[in-house]
Amino acid sequence: MEIDVFTLFPDAFGWFQRQRHVTNAIARGHRLGYVNYRDHTPLNAGQVDDMPFGGGAGMVLRVDVVEAALRARYGVDPVSLAADRRVIALTPSGRLLDDAFVDELARQERLTLLSGRYEGFDQRVLDHFVSDELSIGRYVLAGGELAAMVVCDTILRKLPGALGDDESAVQESFSPALGGRVEYPHYTRPAEYRGWPVPEVLLSGHHERIARWRHEHSRERDDQGTARTGEDARGRRAGG
Ligand code: 6GU
Repeated sequence: MEIDVFTLFPDAFGWFQRQRHVTNAIARGHRLGYVNYRDHTPLNAGQVDDMPFGGGAGMVLRVDVVEAALRARYGVDPVSLAADRRVIALTPSGRLLDDAFVDELARQERLTLLSGRYEGFDQRVLDHFVSDELSIGRYVLAGGELAAMVVCDTILRKLPGALGDDESAVQESFSPALGGRVEYPHYTRPAEYRGWPVPEVLLSGHHERIARWRHEHSRERDDQGTARTGEDARGRRAGG
């Protein structure tokens, strides 16, 4: 698949770009590219944002600047772009990212992620250039870059061959394989530490008992999560 991230801060992705699942995905022919809005702005002195009409704090990413960057990358009127690819604006108020949304995005051939800064995008970007708005949680980040990395991370690790063992992305927290529940607890050596033992069944080599134990403890953890947050792993309210 091909992911393009539009951002004012492509340098912010340096660390992310070096992560093993990312380099693996790229080695397998997937593409992750960056477009700096500032490189394509039609305005003077690299201007990309402006004061909001009607007043108020913060700066707004301009619609003409976003259009110029999209045109430079794709060579078409961005109004027609969403027919060909998902164009996703990263906004705090967008559709919440969850495992099902990640699966949906991982099935796309082409994806465009638009990061905003300042107070966000001129509304006309969202109304005319974008197919989806996505949020990674109900809090406000100073910019979309961290959210873009979260989105790319969750997508790329699901692609075949990205992880050392493809099974690790199948039976994991929130996956259909675990019925959307959180994963069971993991232990490694030492088998006992400060008097804290590893559950005996995990040392037994008895695969059926281990599978049963894991299934039970996935459920148990889910119930504990519900007690802690009032929501289960699928984000549903307790008793609802
Ligand atoms: Cl996608 N962007 C920003 N700026 N803040 C967020 C977010 C995105 N998701 C949660 N908070």
